[in-house]
Amino acid sequence: MEVLIAGSGNMARGIGGRMCAGKHRVRIADREPSKAVTLARELEHESTGEAFESVGDADIVVLATPYRGSLEVARRWADQLAGKVLIDICNPVDTATYDRLVTPPDKSAAEEIAEIAPDALVVKAFNTTFATRLSAYGALDVFIAGDEEKARGRVARVCEDGGLRPIQVGALKHARALEAFQLLHMKVQDQIRGNWSTALAIEY
Ligand SMILES: NC(=O)c1ccc[n+]([C@@H]2O[C@H](COP(=O)([O-])OP(=O)(O)OC[C@H]3O[C@@H](n4cnc5c(N)ncnc54)[C@H](OP(=O)(O)O)[C@@H]3O)[C@@H](O)[C@H]2O)c1
Repeated sequence: MEVLIAGSGNMARGIGGRMCAGKHRVRIADREPSKAVTLARELEHESTGEAFESVGDADIVVLATPYRGSLEVARRWADQLAGKVLIDICNPVDTATYDRLVTPPDKSAAEEIAEIAPDALVVKAFNTTFATRLSAYGALDVFIAGDEEKARGRVARVCEDGGLRPIQVGALKHARALEAFQLLHMKVQDQIRGNWSTALAIEY
C-alpha cells in the first residue's frame, strides 16, 4: 500500500519505519520539505519526501502532527480524502499538567477530524505507542478504533506487516477511551520512571 505521513517528527519516524519494514511505500509530507526528504532518506525502502501538496494515490494517510496541526491538515486535505483511510494518532492533552484532555466535552480528537473530513475513513490508532518503542523492534499492541471495518482491517494489516500486534476495539467513538487511556499513561511517566518508553499492552 502507499502510505502518506503528514509530519516528519518522532512518530512519523516510528510509524514510517514500521510501514517500511512491512514493505509499504511511504511518502513523508512536511511544511518544510527538506525535513521530509531527510526523514525519507533515513527510512529508505522507496520512501520519498515532499511538501504538503496533494494526497495523490495514497491508500492510507497518517496525521503525525500535534492535535491542532492534525485538525489543520485534515481541513487542508478534506476534499482529497474521500474513501481514504485517515489515521489520527494524536493525544490532545494539556501538556502543562498532563491532567486533562483539551478536546471539546464528549468528543475525541478523532471524531473532530471525522467531522472535518466526512468522506475519509477515519481511524484512531498508534496514540498509545510511544515513538521510542515504535522505532525499536518489538511487537507492540496497537489499539484501533474506527467506524468502517474495512478501514480498521487495512490499518491492522499494515501493523501486522510492520511486526506490531493490532487490537481492534470497535467504532470511532472508542477513540475517547483511547485518548483518555493514553492521558493516564503519560501522566504516570514520572511516577513509574517510564522515560516515555513504556508500552500499553493486553496480556493474553
Ligand atoms: N511522541 C510520541 O511518543 C507519541 C506517541 C503517540 C502519539 N503521539 C502523537 O503523535 C503526534 C506527533 O507527535 P511527535 O512526537 O511525532 O511530534 P514531533 O516530533 O514534534 O513532530 C510533529 C510534526 O508535526 C509537524 N507540525 C506541527 N504543527 C503542524 C501544523 N500545524 N501543520 C503541519 N505540520 C505540523 C512538525 O513540523 P515542524 O518540525 O515544522 O514543527 C513535525 O514534523 C502528536 O499528535 C502526538 O500527540 C506521539
